[in-house]
Amino acid sequence: MTDARRPLIAGNWKMNGLKASAGEMRAIVAGASKAAKADLLICPPATLVAEFAGIVKKGSPVAIGGQDCHAAASGAHTGDISTEMLADAGATAVIVGHSERRADHGETDAIVNAKAQAAWRAELTAILCIGETQAQRDAGKTLDIIGGQLRGSVPEGATANTLVIAYEPVWAIGTGLTPTVKDVAQVHEYIRNYLKQYFKNDGEVIRILYGGSVKPSNAVELLAVPHVNGALIGGASLKASDFLAIAAAAP
Ligand code: 13P
Repeated sequence: MTDARRPLIAGNWKMNGLKASAGEMRAIVAGASKAAKADLLICPPATLVAEFAGIVKKGSPVAIGGQDCHAAASGAHTGDISTEMLADAGATAVIVGHSERRADHGETDAIVNAKAQAAWRAELTAILCIGETQAQRDAGKTLDIIGGQLRGSVPEGATANTLVIAYEPVWAIGTGLTPTVKDVAQVHEYIRNYLKQYFKNDGEVIRILYGGSVKPSNAVELLAVPHVNGALIGGASLKASDFLAIAAAAP
């Protein structure tokens, strides 16, 4: 994930995957050359980070990331995982603030902000998720919500190498629903303007991913939207052929 201008196609496996899934990961690595225009990232469950990092060869366009982290480097936090542990296992990125973490674990913007800083402490790229619920969209509050999440969750000092924003409308996750191209364009342009205001030159090239029901059949259309610099994919990233087909759609 060195060139911040290349599209990033990231797979979030969520709570899916066993050792037997290594074959799927090998197929992604083997097929990665077909997606030469994009950087690829797979975020498996924590139990598979080290194993998958071992499958990825040096110089491969595929990297491995975690799905969450604790803000502290170590300590009495049963069941949690630190960014140092993820880096030690071979991860180079970590997702923070996914809406499932915000909803299921009460993660606030302040917690997400601290996790992003923890990612940087361990030299991981933070893939920071934001997005509105259906009720918020229906109330016409989408841009207010996105603005509030950006102000609260994104730490100062972000650069094109340390931060990726993932716009994931909560109502589009796992539902098969996607916003219109016009709606995606509006939110991504809003995020870009925010990043430019706060992070100047880096703000122009920090990647902004779209996430929520991305699949091979809609990838070309979504990835062509201005200021969409890649995708964060849940369900369709579990199958190498689907994930690679989406990656091949990167402009
Ligand atoms: P789906 O692609 O399954 O809708 O999930 C999106 C997501 O939440 C990725 O983080």
